[in-house]
Amino acid sequence: MKVLVVGPGGREHAIVRSLLADPYVSEVHAAPGNAGIAQIVPVHSLNASDPAAVTELAVRLGADLVVVGPEAPLAAGVSDAVREAGIPVFGPSKEAAQLEASKAFAKQVMAAANVPTAMARVAANADEAADALDTFGAPYVVKDDGLAAGKGVVVTSDRGEALAHAAACFEAGGTVVIEEYLDGPEVSLFVLSDGRHVVPLAPAQDFKRIFDNDEGPNTGGMGAYSPLEWAPANLVDDVIARVAQPTVDEMAARGTPFVGVLYCGLALTSRGMRVIEFNARFGDPETQAVLARLKTPLGGLLLAAAKCELDAMEQLKWDPRTAVAVVVASANYPDAPRTGDPILGLVEAEAIDGVHVLHAGTSLEANEIVSAGGRVLAVVALGEDLAQARDLAYAGVAEIGLEGSQHRTDIALKASRSEIVVPAGSAGVDNEKGLL
Ligand code: AMP
Ligand code: GLY
Repeated sequence: MKVLVVGPGGREHAIVRSLLADPYVSEVHAAPGNAGIAQIVPVHSLNASDPAAVTELAVRLGADLVVVGPEAPLAAGVSDAVREAGIPVFGPSKEAAQLEASKAFAKQVMAAANVPTAMARVAANADEAADALDTFGAPYVVKDDGLAAGKGVVVTSDRGEALAHAAACFEAGGTVVIEEYLDGPEVSLFVLSDGRHVVPLAPAQDFKRIFDNDEGPNTGGMGAYSPLEWAPANLVDDVIARVAQPTVDEMAARGTPFVGVLYCGLALTSRGMRVIEFNARFGDPETQAVLARLKTPLGGLLLAAAKCELDAMEQLKWDPRTAVAVVVASANYPDAPRTGDPILGLVEAEAIDGVHVLHAGTSLEANEIVSAGGRVLAVVALGEDLAQARDLAYAGVAEIGLEGSQHRTDIALKASRSEIVVPAGSAGVDNEKGLL
């Protein structure tokens, strides 16, 4: 089987790496990829969000499967175009990708499917925003309705800051979703869907803020680990029963079946499990941790999803070890990342047993690998337990030389010290409607 992976980031590097380990995959191509991906498979430079360009490449390569990584190509209709050309594609249609591209749409689907989520209101102007903020009270949660690479959400106790974020979104011509604050630990669960059947991967936890102790602005994600020893035993079953299957059923009933990965961003609150957000794709950097442990060949799994054959899949197999991924970001990320700096120590980091490096924002210039984006790479380690995986990942990070680079030092730290508190009754409780 020949597979084309679309996208430029760390998630795509992880997907490519796993596909290469699948004995049924004979050839992998990536477009546009990055410097790390280019070291292991042929890459093709194109605009990943151009449906015609991606389709033309897939046809030319004779791809048996196209895997679309990021949200922008999905929202641009890349999957639709490839599917129309008769090539199986892992990634939802433009319409189904609205589950991520529009937070208001996602809220409507959740309400229709009775999926537990934060109570929310859509606001289109300053008065509506102020009214909604006062309905829910502090801490305030204000979300840009459109795609914002994980950076369109402001969570603050400062009403002025909340209003200012809403005003900036209105200024840009958008609307906002304002919702109740969800307490409790967060979980990312990837659920593969073929439009009818669902198969969950292992849960992971992401670290959204730029600084240690969850301080500073939100980013695309600064690190991840999997599995979650502290998660309630019935969590995955509960998410399938009350979130993923009802959502997939609702999308099918609307005539827009969801084929791809439904990323369920969850909070385990004292009032029960709640969906924080849906994404229509694998999460980054959770994928780097989750796929490091997946032993079931990835190509067959994604092809089964693309061909509506997930019900025929055997139980997934997992490496019993724990994976930790630590992101190394460039100076000034997430505001105005500095790029073009040489990256040193890649070979040394990978020489550590149990460690591999996945590139995100990197490019090759004059035979030198340089930073080319905000999140530059992730160092991924497998260990016998969280403490060992953390030690190995940070030993890898210590080898990386990138001027001004930033990384969090507390990825998976609380979990490794058993300090994560799951509110009693957070799984399997009530089922409020999500829209006021
Ligand atoms: P999102 O883009 O919706 O995933 O939001 C980014 C991050 O903002 C989430 O991972 C949470 O950490 C935080 N967040 C979003 N919605 C809420 C909420 N209702 N309550 C508390 N934190 C939230
Ligand atoms: N790590 C969060 C995301 O991929 O949206």
